[in-house]
Amino acid sequence: MRFAVFASGNGSNLQAIIDSVKAAEIKAELVLVFSNNRKAYALKRAEEAGIKTLFVDPKHYATPQSYERAIVIHLKEAKIDFIVLAGYMKLLTPFFIREYPQKILNVHPSLLPSFKGIDGIKDAFTYGAKVTGVTIHFVDEKMDHGPMIMQEAIKVAEDETLESLAEKIHSVEHKIYPKAIALFAQGKLKVKGRKVTVE
Ligand code: GRF
Repeated sequence: MRFAVFASGNGSNLQAIIDSVKAAEIKAELVLVFSNNRKAYALKRAEEAGIKTLFVDPKHYATPQSYERAIVIHLKEAKIDFIVLAGYMKLLTPFFIREYPQKILNVHPSLLPSFKGIDGIKDAFTYGAKVTGVTIHFVDEKMDHGPMIMQEAIKVAEDETLESLAEKIHSVEHKIYPKAIALFAQGKLKVKGRKVTVE
């Protein structure tokens, strides 16, 4: 299986994925790292690892769908089987999702369906949640909604700060996202409605 990672920012999850591919824990080929942000540090990480990078400038496209059409052409050329979103900060349209049904994975920094959206860590923290966590899920046409592959809970300590909570969340992401990708790459995830089982 050949896959692409989509990332818009720092790319710490990308790094964990690169390391897991190198260690042969993920038995699939990471052939492309795509970003909608020219300055994403994720692109540097990919270059350093010798992985092909692609930046497509959203400013040159009139609609989200025309932007995605351009990306899909690259993905088809690269014979990509599945896509891993790792801090990709642009919502995918139904057009793109239908091109890769149940073949797009995402990591979200909360226990879905709580605290959807771009600020999952901060939203849980300021809401006063005692427990939050990480969710790995398939992407469907609604935001932060598709069938859940893995979740891990994290306790919010009494003296927790937003920074310490973010650190805890990221370290859980880096641990469980590669595991979920590894299972998917081996064809071990079965989806029935909203339920995902490991077989
Ligand atoms: C992660 O917290 C992820 O859950 C969210 O965006 C963040 C990306 O971080 N979707 P990084 O770019 O992988 O460091």
